[in-house]
Amino acid sequence: MPDSNHAIMPTYGRLPVTFSHGEGAVLYDTDGRAYLDGVSGIAVTNLGHNHPGVTAAVTEQASRLVHTSNLFHIRLQERVAEMLSEATGMDNMFFCNSGAEANEAAIKLARRYGDRKGIAQPKMIVLDGAFHGRTIGALSATGNEKIRQGFGPLLEGFVRVPANDLPAIEQLGEPLADVVAVMVEPIQGEGGIKPLAADYLKSLRDMCTANDWLLIFDEVQTGNGRCGSTYLFEQLAVVPDVLLTAKGLGNGLPIGVCMARGAAAQQLGPGDHGSTYGGNPLCCAAAVAVLTALKEDNLMPQAEILRHHLIESLKQRITDPTLIADIRGRGLMIGIQPSTSTDSIVKRGLERGLLLNIAGGDTIRVLPPLIMSREQAGELGSGIADVLNEIAEQEPL
Ligand SMILES: Cc1ncc(COP(=O)(O)O)c(C=O)c1O
Repeated sequence: MPDSNHAIMPTYGRLPVTFSHGEGAVLYDTDGRAYLDGVSGIAVTNLGHNHPGVTAAVTEQASRLVHTSNLFHIRLQERVAEMLSEATGMDNMFFCNSGAEANEAAIKLARRYGDRKGIAQPKMIVLDGAFHGRTIGALSATGNEKIRQGFGPLLEGFVRVPANDLPAIEQLGEPLADVVAVMVEPIQGEGGIKPLAADYLKSLRDMCTANDWLLIFDEVQTGNGRCGSTYLFEQLAVVPDVLLTAKGLGNGLPIGVCMARGAAAQQLGPGDHGSTYGGNPLCCAAAVAVLTALKEDNLMPQAEILRHHLIESLKQRITDPTLIADIRGRGLMIGIQPSTSTDSIVKRGLERGLLLNIAGGDTIRVLPPLIMSREQAGELGSGIADVLNEIAEQEPL
């Protein structure tokens, strides 16, 4: 459905609901109806709505100082950098405002890395099914042909290979000489919650090290507690050279980060990159509150606990187990692939007061907040089962 307000470009197919406020895992529409949030603003409000720590930090900071620009030192930006460094082992980082911008910073960083090695036509290996954002650089790195179409000429220098297929890289032949980096999402989010195999990621790490390529992890969606650790790489025993995040870091305040270690941390110097807003005091106050709550409130273990409750409730309520073809992902990044059509799932969910989303065309992407109660997780799981049971009854395949 295009936007009903003609003053807005109709780039989104919006659902017919407007929210007025939220509390924890529940959003309330303008008529006062409650909805259980299984989307978290697309993996953003990982701490739920109106989180006391984030609300207090943001309101206090808003009354003190919102923005200064990076012409000056920003104490809160330094604080976020220290906290992220401590959590990830990354040496330094660049602050921006979104996931796409974090990817843009990584693309520039990788190109500079190649330039310093005398590679005039640097190439980055990216994967089929990947999503890295909508700006021209990030879009060029994105695998979905449908969203790239009509926006050419796109940025050159990306070599696309199938996911989980190491020989596909080895067999590239000549272009390998100009490769500077491999960029992947450890779980492809927009592509349909498709995890990359752990041994594939380990082999990619070895391959990058052996060839002096940078390994870049796009953890814009997998990060900030969603998968049960601050960043998913911690659970994979694979350490990237460049780590990108955004989304949940600000719990709704726009912030993105491109983190780097080792040689990757030495590529961008004064004047090489910038952002007027990037890492401003207001967004960084939110990020400090998010990182503090994730740790001090011991929220990350909740990801697996709530996942378990949700999936168990789903399985208990589903009338026919063959209605679920697959369940993927980790922690609270859950992909439920039904064997039914996915066309009416979001609408039926909405009618039942559940906020759901479809990714990759055939998968229900469930991204609830980490602060959800076990009861709410169960309610979401059984609610999804009710939707699938209803579809099986009313829309037989
Ligand atoms: C893995 C990944 N990278 C990048 C992006 C782009 O982030 P943004 O929409 O903040 O530009 C997204 C957004 O869904 C994402 O999931």
